[in-house]
Amino acid sequence: MATEAFLASAGLTDEVVRRDAKTNLRKAADVLQSGGLVAFPTETVYGLGANALDATAVARVFEVKRRPRFDPLIVHVHSMVQARLVACYWRDTAVELARRFWPGPLTLVLPKSDVVPDIVASGLSTVAVRVPDHPLALALIAEAGLPVAAPSANTFGSISPTRAEHVRKQLDGEIDLLLDGGPCRVGVESTILSLEDDVPLLLRAGGTPLEEIESVVGPVRRQRSDPGRPTAPGQCPQHYAPKTQLVLWQDDGSPPASPRAGLLTLCPPADPNQFAAVEVLAESGNLREAATNLFAALHRLDAMGLDLIVAVPVPDEGLGLAINDRLRRAATTKKQ
Ligand code: TXA
Ligand code: MG
Repeated sequence: MATEAFLASAGLTDEVVRRDAKTNLRKAADVLQSGGLVAFPTETVYGLGANALDATAVARVFEVKRRPRFDPLIVHVHSMVQARLVACYWRDTAVELARRFWPGPLTLVLPKSDVVPDIVASGLSTVAVRVPDHPLALALIAEAGLPVAAPSANTFGSISPTRAEHVRKQLDGEIDLLLDGGPCRVGVESTILSLEDDVPLLLRAGGTPLEEIESVVGPVRRQRSDPGRPTAPGQCPQHYAPKTQLVLWQDDGSPPASPRAGLLTLCPPADPNQFAAVEVLAESGNLREAATNLFAALHRLDAMGLDLIVAVPVPDEGLGLAINDRLRRAATTKKQ
């Protein structure tokens, strides 16, 4: 079996994680093959997976996530050969991008092949596909011998899970099996690029920096944001949101007045005493490190019973684009 090789090559060193992975992988593959749901780690966030070729299994993903049926899922595959099974037409730029960035946090939206049931793509003629860069995800897909449809393993609209405990907290009892792969390395979801037209279109900023994509395929179009009609519901203005009210603050002048506010910031603040809690995303200011820590920091602040989370936007470059996108959406959520 390929499992041992995957685990070794990926430097999955934590013994507990390794043991859990080995004993549970075969079980997880069985669950997928028999129409069940498996939460599994990827390099970006944890996914909630089902056999992408089984419409009934995929319907359960929508139910468990309480996700609207108009919001299509990403199909996870382990190789280019399997990707060609689910997406039927590949222009040269698509092949080039796949070669350069897979396995990795880049999702390509391509014309869908008929083997993929309509429910996966919410009735669209396209399918979103990616090869995740995580040994357990790859081993699971290989072991099951199936493409795996998986959204992030959280309830719709809430903060994405970057640790197994985040999944347990939101979805315990509703999934058949959870594979624990420890914390996710990248920490924000994949970049989504539509390759339906000649010029690639950015649908969601994510774990693969736009600058790197543009260095391979030239300028990428940005989606004009029309909150009333999102093309990728990752673009829904209300998304990735904590239960606590979150506001953006430029760190100039005094922060929004609130008796118990928590601060989410890239670098340590000048005066931490103004806040009941402070989460620093990366002491060094490194945006990759900040992305890795983003959702876990939000989960922690959200669990503290604060009145307000004050988030400082980061520089709009590299992974900063994805971080700011998630912060903006967390901020626009209306609280009940
Ligand atoms: O990193 C990731 O992308 C994670 C891990 C688990 O792979 N997955 C993830 O899935 O973030 P989800 O469901 O939370 O977000 C997928 C996004 C949605 O906004 C959906 O609208 C978009 O992908 N999408 C899926 N199929 C699409 C299609 N055919 N056309 C346009 N957008 C699509
Ligand atoms: Mg999601």
